[in-house]
This record gives sequence, C-alpha cells and structure tokens, in this order.
Amino acid sequence: MRFSSALLLALPALALAEDQVPILDKVKGYLNMAKDAISSAVPAAPSPLDAGVAKVASKVQHSLTTENWKQVLTVDPTASAPTTQDWMVFITGGNVTCYGFCGNASKAWNESVAALSATPKAPNFAVLDCESQPILCNSWYAGPPSIYYMQIPKPLADQSAPLPTVRFIPLNRTSVTGPQLTKLVTNKEYENTAPYEGPWHPFTGLLQQYNLAIPVGYVLWGFSKMPSWLPMILISFMSRSFM
Ligand SMILES: *[C@@H]1O[C@H](CO)[C@@H](O)[C@H](O)[C@H]1NC(C)=O
Ligand SMILES: *[C@@H]1O[C@H](CO)[C@@H](O)[C@H](O)[C@H]1NC(C)=O
Ligand SMILES: *[C@@H]1O[C@H](CO)[C@@H](O)[C@H](O)[C@H]1NC(C)=O
Ligand SMILES: *[C@@H]1O[C@H](CO)[C@@H](O)[C@H](O)[C@H]1NC(C)=O
Repeated sequence: MRFSSALLLALPALALAEDQVPILDKVKGYLNMAKDAISSAVPAAPSPLDAGVAKVASKVQHSLTTENWKQVLTVDPTASAPTTQDWMVFITGGNVTCYGFCGNASKAWNESVAALSATPKAPNFAVLDCESQPILCNSWYAGPPSIYYMQIPKPLADQSAPLPTVRFIPLNRTSVTGPQLTKLVTNKEYENTAPYEGPWHPFTGLLQQYNLAIPVGYVLWGFSKMPSWLPMILISFMSRSFM
C-alpha cells in the first residue's frame, strides 16, 4: 500500500517529464540519429573556425561532476570579501538526455565562451553534461539545453555570507545562437530571469539542506531509465491485488 501510493505520487512527475519532450521530438531525434549515421559515412571537413572556438571553450571552462561541483563553483580565494563570483553553467546533453538536439546550443555556447572570455568582466564558465552526469542533472532538476547563471558570494571573515543567487534559463534548442548567449552577460539579460528559490536550488534548496538531492537524483534517473510501459503494468498488477 505504502509502495503503491509512493508510486502514484511519482506518476505525475513522470508524466510531466514525458510532456516536456513531445513524442514528435523524440521521433525526430531518432530520425536525426539515423540520418547522422548515414551522413557520417561521408566525412565532412570540420570548419577551422568551429575548431578554434571549441579549443577556447575547452581551455576556460570547468566540467562539473557529482563529486567536484561544490569545489568548482566557488569564489576565487584570492579575491577579497565582500565579493561575488559569477558562474555561467551550460547544461547540455547528448543522444539520450537531449535526444540529440543539443548540437546547436553547444555550438552557441562555444562561440559565446570564446567571445566572453576576451572581455574583462567575464564570468567563470562551467559545463554540466547530463549524458555523463545524469545524477547531478537530476538532483538539480535541470534539463538540457539550458544556462544556470549563478552568483556566489564569498563568505566574510566571520564565515557568514549572503546566499548564492541562481537563475535557470532554458534555451531554445533550435534557435539559440552564440550572440544571444553572449548578450545574457554583456547586457545583463540574465537579470530578466527571476532568481530560482525552490526546492531544487543547488545551494539552498530543501533537497540540499536535507542531503536529499543526490538520492532524489538517483530516483529520477531510475524513472527515466524505466521503460514507459512499466508503470502501466505495475498499476494494473496493484489494482488487481486490491480487488
Ligand atoms: C549519437 O548519435 C550519433 C548518430 O547516431 C552518433 O554518431 C554518435 O556517436 C552518438 N553519440 C554518442 C555519444 O553515443
Ligand atoms: C564545443 O567545444 C567542446 C570542447 O570544449 C567540444 O567538445 C564540442 O564538440 C564543441 N561543440 C560544438 C558544437 O562545436
Ligand atoms: C540548428 O540550427 C539550424 C539553423 O541554423 C536549424 O536549421 C536546425 O534545425 C537546428 N537543429 C536543431 C536540432 O534544432
Ligand atoms: C524556438 O525557436 C523557434 C524558431 O525561432 C520557434 O519556432 C519556437 O517556437 C521556439 N520554441 C520555444 C519553446 O520558444
């Protein structure tokens, strides 16, 4: 009984997750994969510009993992308090977590990192790849492609610190461009998104406070691995056993 009510509670979340990726997009994702498989037989010459841009990006950005993110997303220890470090985190995915639709966003990100890293007030850059870090992604409830813009204050001498501000900015995976991401920073357009203050907040959310984010990340990840027919079968078994 207890198990079944937990499962029923989880179902709306599951349905929600499914809604976010319309079935048509999934089909398109599979078609793209098939198309890529065919066109990959014909090698395309990589553009030298893209290669240069990717090189800059790999140099200045940090890769986040479940183990390192709390150490990475901090303030430069040499900066004097009170100060705030801005972190621009790109949340991306691959064939499984982004249905193969994150290519344009990844290109836009690489371009904007290359452009921004040349400016004096550039934020720090980090990338969270949901394909290799599904648990961390799920523990933040962060779907790719998106930007998590974080402002992390340095603790004062007495260890007190204002709370970090995080803004979750989903990206349009079709139309997102490099200049658009660059303007998020140069024009402070990230301020158009209200700071997120809900339970999934990576620093102060309820789940972090109770050390539940990672376990919940595992549960959500488990649901995402579950074939979509399984809940139906389970429900039909359970409802039968009640009768
Ligand atoms: C994603 O799919 C494409 C097309 O099928 C394939 O070329 C590529 O290797 C896949 N990537 C991964 C990481 O599996
Ligand atoms: C972006 O740069 C990374 C290296 O930082 C590279 O692995 C990736 O392929 C690049 N993406 C695109 C779409 O150029
Ligand atoms: C990527 O952008 C091009 C236009 O630049 C668009 O035609 C294409 O559909 C986009 N790809 C995806 C997966 O949205
Ligand atoms: C993304 O951009 C495309 C092309 O500009 C637009 O048709 C589509 O409605 C946008 N999607 C969302 C969710 O805003």
